[in-house]
Amino acid sequence: MSALYPDLAGRVALVTGGADGIGRATVMALARQGARCLVLDIDAGKGERLAAEAPGVVFRRADLRDVAATVAAIRDGEQATGPVALLVNNAGHDERHAFTEVTPDYWDDRLAVNLRHFMFVTQAVAPGLRAGRGAVVNLASTSWMQGAVNLIAYTTAKSAVIGFTRSLARELGPGGVRVNAVTPGWVMTERQRAAATAERLARAAERQALPGEILPEDVAAMIVFLLSGEARMCTGQNFIVDAGVV
Ligand SMILES: NC(=O)c1ccc[n+]([C@@H]2O[C@H](COP(=O)([O-])OP(=O)(O)OC[C@H]3O[C@@H](n4cnc5c(N)ncnc54)[C@H](O)[C@@H]3O)[C@@H](O)[C@H]2O)c1
Repeated sequence: MSALYPDLAGRVALVTGGADGIGRATVMALARQGARCLVLDIDAGKGERLAAEAPGVVFRRADLRDVAATVAAIRDGEQATGPVALLVNNAGHDERHAFTEVTPDYWDDRLAVNLRHFMFVTQAVAPGLRAGRGAVVNLASTSWMQGAVNLIAYTTAKSAVIGFTRSLARELGPGGVRVNAVTPGWVMTERQRAAATAERLARAAERQALPGEILPEDVAAMIVFLLSGEARMCTGQNFIVDAGVV
């Protein structure tokens, strides 16, 4: 990403699931802007390595399914970074599941991984967001728009991210906080690339309006723009980065 947003320098951003994939690319892009990042992730190895590699990054391990432990990790991290003014609700997992085999416990677990923490992480940092007249970006997915199969708990959670974004924009807007969703198509993170067969890649290429792979950095560029003051009148919206599939 080559754009520079000087207003991001010195700002404090919390990126959930920031140790890998799109979250990691976002942290690297924010570090390049001179922002400080508090990264929460369940993967301590990758999180610690990122903190050692990128300037201004503070890592705290947290399983976002555990709300109390997550809020404690945020408070602890803020001791090092100062209050969070920018938030990227990014962590999620698209584990496949057959419709007939979903149990109530599995359903709750998938919603805890893909939706519940968006609410409680935002609630925990809302005072800092307001004080800093900050911004929130919530990661959704085109999978629900396409009615993807073997993913019903994930697509349910991801469609809810859009409703959450619309209401949150109204909740926080009067305090000057902007809230948007970013909806990626199929993005070639390390994990997705490992699962990509030649056939799946060919099918994806056929459905895109643009040729080429969507990279984590392409999504990070949209996120960073929306966090910056250049997007000062954008809120309550959903911005799709999918090379023109949906
Ligand atoms: N990659 C894609 O093609 C794609 C497409 C659409 C939407 N998305 C969305 O973008 C976001 C990022 O996805 P990604 O592809 O970069 O994923 P990824 O698997 O590459 O990275 C996700 C990160 O979240 C962390 N994480 C997962 N569960 C966690 C938990 N319970 N507690 C704490 N950390 C946890 C992982 O350890 C990992 O570091 C997700 O919300 C995902 O649903 C991704």
